[in-house]
Amino acid sequence: MTDSIRVTGGAPLRGEIRVRGAKNFVSKAMVAALLGSSASTLRNVPDIRDVGVVSSLLRLHGADVNYDVESGELTIDTTNLAKADAAQIAEHAGSSRIPILLCGPLLHRLGEAVIPDLGGCRIGDRPIDFHLDILKKFGAVVTEHPDGLHLSAPNGLHGIRHTLNYPSVGATEQLLLTAVMAQGITRLENAAVEPEIKDLIDVLQKMGAIISVDTDRSVTIEGVGRMHGYDHTSLADRIEVGSWASAALATSGDIMVLGAQQRHMGTFLNVFRKVGGEFDVVPQGIRFYHPGGRLKPIAIQTDVHPGFMTDWQQPLVVALTQATGLSIVHETVYENRFGFTDALRAMGAQVQLFHECLGDAQCRFSQRNFKHSAVISGPTPLKAAEITVPDLRGGFSHLIAALAAEGTSTVHGIGIIDRGYEDFRGKLAALGAEVE
Ligand code: EPU
Repeated sequence: MTDSIRVTGGAPLRGEIRVRGAKNFVSKAMVAALLGSSASTLRNVPDIRDVGVVSSLLRLHGADVNYDVESGELTIDTTNLAKADAAQIAEHAGSSRIPILLCGPLLHRLGEAVIPDLGGCRIGDRPIDFHLDILKKFGAVVTEHPDGLHLSAPNGLHGIRHTLNYPSVGATEQLLLTAVMAQGITRLENAAVEPEIKDLIDVLQKMGAIISVDTDRSVTIEGVGRMHGYDHTSLADRIEVGSWASAALATSGDIMVLGAQQRHMGTFLNVFRKVGGEFDVVPQGIRFYHPGGRLKPIAIQTDVHPGFMTDWQQPLVVALTQATGLSIVHETVYENRFGFTDALRAMGAQVQLFHECLGDAQCRFSQRNFKHSAVISGPTPLKAAEITVPDLRGGFSHLIAALAAEGTSTVHGIGIIDRGYEDFRGKLAALGAEVE
């Protein structure tokens, strides 16, 4: 498949598409299956590259993984789990951030873990210090090797008390996946509480875990000696839903997103409405549309749940280039998530970046050398350009910009988009986009 796409923009996207399970949940539920000593079934699984990467890593450890693309049903049988070859694991270096989450489950099941160098999007430093601190506290011994991290637990894994400096999604998942089978009780303060994490907790409970979540971001886990497989249907990918919604707004279109779930989209829907978009929630999904007239500017900041997700930011910024007036977007989750605006400027958008926190509150990046606030002045007609996509969400945003722009754009490096957007080429065609 070619890695470039030619997009002739200027026409509204109209039609119906389906969004299946959440990339940022499905991959973690697949890792959780390692904890069970019997087979698991995960439903509503999208055909995206991250699912392939995790399947491959599980297979290297002796799991039997079967995926039916049509039905979205994925089964993982971990009955014959076995140690994997470190060189084969190393071949997965740079492919995804998920492998770091295999540590706890592999230590519980096999007594050791080998983790390749991580990948993921280049949207900031993305360190793994929170993960390693947690694993070491549980009793893991971590050594760095040329082929990645090697972990063992000579004295077993024991429950801990831990407070996160920042409610990191991955670190919360790391702690959950390790604590459920550690000896004794684990207590986490300042946990992330994203819907994908709530779904992971549901999965772990189905498998035999004992986990309680309080309203103050604290979580208590009582370790259990044995866990079994699960049967679970993934929540919808709320990032993908928000991305298509923003595409509807930016192109003056009308998109029915089948499978979208209102209960996970509340914060996005409020912003969508304030900007001037309209939506109808129906049993099959959510219809997003531009009602005509002017879009309104907005001041928002990204935040952990229940705030406005950082992953919704990039597609929305494209729509904001079409709003009348000045919009302010303060990015507080990643220090470096506005790189994609270079291409928008080249297409005629007026976006200025600032080091200052231009939001209600000062964030962790205040007084540091990161341009993490954006001021967008609109409306600006966008013109076609030749673009190379920088990362997953930025890449999809470039596609939206090309669809909103007059003329034919060439977008290179679109393979990155397959990491998280199932069959986006087919969906664009279904919405009447002129793409080659
Ligand atoms: N952080 C650290 N140290 C760590 C871990 C995180 O400093 O050890 C910092 C990060 O650098 C970042 C902040 O904490 O500034 C938040 O990171 P978090 O750990 O919450 O993110 P993540 O688990 O690595 C997941 C999603 C991201 C999504 C974020 C925030 C997956 C695979 N990825 O990342 O999704 O943006 O949570 O919701 O679940 C995407 O899908 O495109 C994507 C980037």
